[in-house]
Amino acid sequence: MRAVRYDRYGAAGVAKVVDVPDPVRDGTGYLVRVRAAALNPKDVLVRKGKFPVIAGLRFPKAMGYDWAGEIVAGDASFPEGTRVFGMIQSWSAGAFAERAYVRPEECARAPEGLSFEECAALPLASLTALQALRDEGHVGRGSRVLLHGASGGVGVFAIQIAKALGATVTTTSSEKNRELCASLGADRTLDYTAVDFRGGTVEGGPFDAFVDVFGNQSFARVRGLLGPEGTYVTTVPSPRIVLDTLLTPLATRRRARLVVVRSRRADLETIAKLVDEKKLHAVIDARFPLAEIREASLRVESKRARGKVVLTVG
Ligand SMILES: NC(=O)c1ccc[n+]([C@@H]2O[C@H](COP(=O)([O-])OP(=O)(O)OC[C@H]3O[C@@H](n4cnc5c(N)ncnc54)[C@H](OP(=O)(O)O)[C@@H]3O)[C@@H](O)[C@H]2O)c1
Repeated sequence: MRAVRYDRYGAAGVAKVVDVPDPVRDGTGYLVRVRAAALNPKDVLVRKGKFPVIAGLRFPKAMGYDWAGEIVAGDASFPEGTRVFGMIQSWSAGAFAERAYVRPEECARAPEGLSFEECAALPLASLTALQALRDEGHVGRGSRVLLHGASGGVGVFAIQIAKALGATVTTTSSEKNRELCASLGADRTLDYTAVDFRGGTVEGGPFDAFVDVFGNQSFARVRGLLGPEGTYVTTVPSPRIVLDTLLTPLATRRRARLVVVRSRRADLETIAKLVDEKKLHAVIDARFPLAEIREASLRVESKRARGKVVLTVG
C-alpha cells in the first residue's frame, strides 16, 4: 500500500509517499481502508522532532492521526464496508496511508451524508474542542465563553460546540476571519490585535471559560477577564500551565487547565450526533492528494489555515 513515511526528523520535505506492506491486524483491532485523512499541528511538531522522548528515535516513522474510511476487517458490530471515522491515539500514528490498523474504542460510525473528507476533518480537532469546553471548562447552558484564536482547526469546532452546549460565545481571530467566526455562530467577534487581555475587560465578559485555542496566552494574563469561578483552558502544554493547574486551587476559585485530547468512541459518537442534528459541520481550508503531503504540511505550518487541511487518500 502507499503510505507516508519519514526517515529522520526534519522539515516538511522529509515526509514521502512510499510503498509499504499492509498493516497487520491483531486479534482485537480493525483494519480500515482509509479514504481521507486530516492534518493537525501535532503531525508537524512530531515530524520536526519536538517530542523525541515520546515519539522515539526509531525510523522510518508513519504519520497521521485523523482518518475516515471503510472497515476491511472488523467484527459483528462493525462489519466489512461500515463507514467509520476516528483518531489514532498512539504516537506511532499511521492514518496517512491507504490502510490503517485502528483500535475499536478509537473509532465510531461516520455521520450520515458527509463526504470522507468532511468526516476525516472531525476527530482530533472536534474532540479537543469538546473535551476543552465540556470537561475542562465545564461549559453549559448560559456560560459565557471566550475562544481565542477561533478560526483554525480546533476553533471552528469550538465555536459550534460551545453554542450547542448553550453558551454565549465571543471569539478572537484576525480581522479577516471575524466573518467566518460569526457564520459559525459566534455572538461577538473581536480582532485579537485590537484586544488588551491584561486590561481586565473585554466585550462579552466576564467569562466562565477562556479557551486559549491558539495557546499564546496564560492564566496570569487573562485572570482579570474571568468570572469568580471562571476557568482558563489552554491547548498548549508548558511548565507554566502545569504549575498553574496545581497552584490555582490553593489561591483562588478561578482555575487553570490544560486539555489533552483523548480518542474515545463515546465522544466520537457525541460528535457524530451533533453533525446529524446539524449543529456541527467541518470547515475545510484545503484538500490535497496524499502525494502532496509536503504542501499539505506547509499549509498547516503557516498557522493561517481556516479550519482543517485534508488529505484525499483513495
Ligand atoms: N492539547 C491538545 O490535546 C491539543 C489538541 C489539538 C490541538 N492542540 C494545539 O492547539 C493549537 C491550535 O490547534 P489548531 O488545530 O486549531 O491549529 P491551526 O488550525 O493551525 O490554527 C490556525 C489558526 O491559528 C490562528 N492564529 C495564528 N496566529 C495567531 C495568533 N497570534 N493569535 C491567535 N490566533 C492565531 C489563525 O487565525 P488568524 O489567521 O485569524 O490569525 C488560524 O486560523 C495548536 O498549538 C495545537 O498544537 C492541542
